[in-house]
Amino acid sequence: MNTREEVGEFSKLFNGFMTLMRRFIFKVLCVGPIPNHISFIMDGNRRFAKKHNLQGLDAGHRAGFVSVTYILQYCQEIGVPYVTLYAFGHDNFKREPEEVKCVMDLMLEKIELTIDRAISGNLNNLKVIFVGDLNMLNERLKAAAQRLMEVTEENRGLMVVVCVAYSTSHEIVQAIRESCLRKCEGGDSPLVLELSDVEECMYTSILPDPALVIRTGGRDRLSNFMTWQTSSSLLHTTAALWPELGLWHLVWAILNFQRMQNYLQKKQKLD
Ligand code: IPE
Ligand code: MG
Repeated sequence: MNTREEVGEFSKLFNGFMTLMRRFIFKVLCVGPIPNHISFIMDGNRRFAKKHNLQGLDAGHRAGFVSVTYILQYCQEIGVPYVTLYAFGHDNFKREPEEVKCVMDLMLEKIELTIDRAISGNLNNLKVIFVGDLNMLNERLKAAAQRLMEVTEENRGLMVVVCVAYSTSHEIVQAIRESCLRKCEGGDSPLVLELSDVEECMYTSILPDPALVIRTGGRDRLSNFMTWQTSSSLLHTTAALWPELGLWHLVWAILNFQRMQNYLQKKQKLD
């Protein structure tokens, strides 16, 4: 056996050991309640690139995509049914056009890759949905996002909702518009909107409200992300930058969620 083969053998063994250890940790974790919907506010990609001297406008975002893959795998293994990812905010379009283009190109690359994986049956039954003002995306990206939603439509595993060109304020405005239209088409006069009419038209009406929101990058705000849906959610923030988020951060956040169960349940009853 030459050195390269030895290294290969060792890394296979190591990966096998890590998988076993992860399974064991998740088994223990599952003794307590598991959040049925986790939202991730992925922040800190550019700081990560700067910290590690990575070159290129998309370097930090590329590293961020690697984290997405791992985190989704862990959520799947834990048995979380819904995950939302705040991938690109409405306001992020105000960034330098070069950076916006870089992120959009990267997103297209990753979506096309995911479509291929879905078609060849390597996506682990994952269902992907994009929500937000998708008209802000270029035609190619919009079509790819649409295609990925179609090819994963029948999947019944983890549902991953990717929020792009998203902000709650925009979501509420579009939901009010849409519910007014529906009422007018239904011939309602005078036009009276109920809370349930608006709620039905929110992009996120397809999933339960987040039980746990994890924000990376050391900031404690929601940045216009699901502010309507998170009145009873637990916000867990970490100083880790998004590309640094790993198994232990996720486990710690869920343990924290379990520790806060009594408080969260009492609060929900009072609401
Ligand atoms: C979040 O990381 C990713 C996107 C908004 C696309 P940032 O790009 O905000 O990185 P920082 O917070 O400036 O480091
Ligand atoms: Mg940021």
